[in-house]
Amino acid sequence: MIKTIFSGVQPSGNLHVGNYFGAIKQWVEMQNDYQCLFCVVDYHAITVKQDPEVLRRKIIETAKIYLASGIDPERSIIFQQSDVKEHTELAWILNCVSARMADLKKMTQFKDKAGEGQDNVSVGLFAYPVLMAADILLYNTDVVPVGDDQVQHVELCRDLGKRFNNLYGEVFKIPEVKIKKESARIMGLDDPQKKMSKSATSEWNYLGLTDEIEKAKKKIMKAVTDSGSEIIYDKANKPALANLLTIYSLASDRSIKDLEKEFIGKGYGDFKKGLAETMATFLISFQEKYSKIKDNDVKEILYSGAEKARIIAQNKIEEVRKKIGVLS
Ligand code: TRP
Repeated sequence: MIKTIFSGVQPSGNLHVGNYFGAIKQWVEMQNDYQCLFCVVDYHAITVKQDPEVLRRKIIETAKIYLASGIDPERSIIFQQSDVKEHTELAWILNCVSARMADLKKMTQFKDKAGEGQDNVSVGLFAYPVLMAADILLYNTDVVPVGDDQVQHVELCRDLGKRFNNLYGEVFKIPEVKIKKESARIMGLDDPQKKMSKSATSEWNYLGLTDEIEKAKKKIMKAVTDSGSEIIYDKANKPALANLLTIYSLASDRSIKDLEKEFIGKGYGDFKKGLAETMATFLISFQEKYSKIKDNDVKEILYSGAEKARIIAQNKIEEVRKKIGVLS
């Protein structure tokens, strides 16, 4: 039987080359072997404050980026989380029957995001991993491809599913996590110790997929570098350069060895110019596809994606409602 993949991206911040090479590009390839559901998780985004106009625009943008990257709505289900109400319904049920305060208090992402002010963040931010578990469990998901920062959440999802199954009988398939390849982990341009982040406070941290070309080039030229001048891949001693070489290699489809050879005897300046040009070529081609997709077409794709997702989700929630003893 063909296996099911579920993954999602929050429509907040700016999707960047790290998201593309680290996640979305792999999803495109997975479409050949799996039934895929790719969700725009808007109800995750509202766990922190959002401007309604901006959120509306970001939902469309995120879906457009899926499409421009090659996610094919004929083969995969692309939809908006809030369109399928079963997600919040199952999240509530899991909140009650499976999730424990102690589990959620252990989540490192919550601890990082809430910082010292745990009492003042939204309850939604605390319960966020339960909604994520609901997303996954509703679709009999076999595999969840995510970045390493989400592994703890998928493990919690497995625990919540198993706890429910133990109480009520086999209802949920317990999914496996698939972690992105290390080579695809792209770090910030302004700080090679931290992952490139779409919600970074400084725009010099990330290379956005919809960044203006000149701006993107400038970001590369301004990226931090390490001491020394040789162009060699040495992650321990030259983490910033190692990151730029990784990006260069991914954007040009050339090996790091090959790039090192090209830049023998040359310095960081030449290297960055080369990378800026390569990135510009990559972004121009991506943005050409992106700009051809119309907002109305995106809305239609999301609408029909939700219709398909709903059929699967409704079946599962019916089963759940029967088990817990509410009348349906
Ligand atoms: N929490 C994920 C993130 O921020 C997004 C997400 C929500 C997700 N639901 C999901 C990822 C289900 C995989 C599966 O990256």
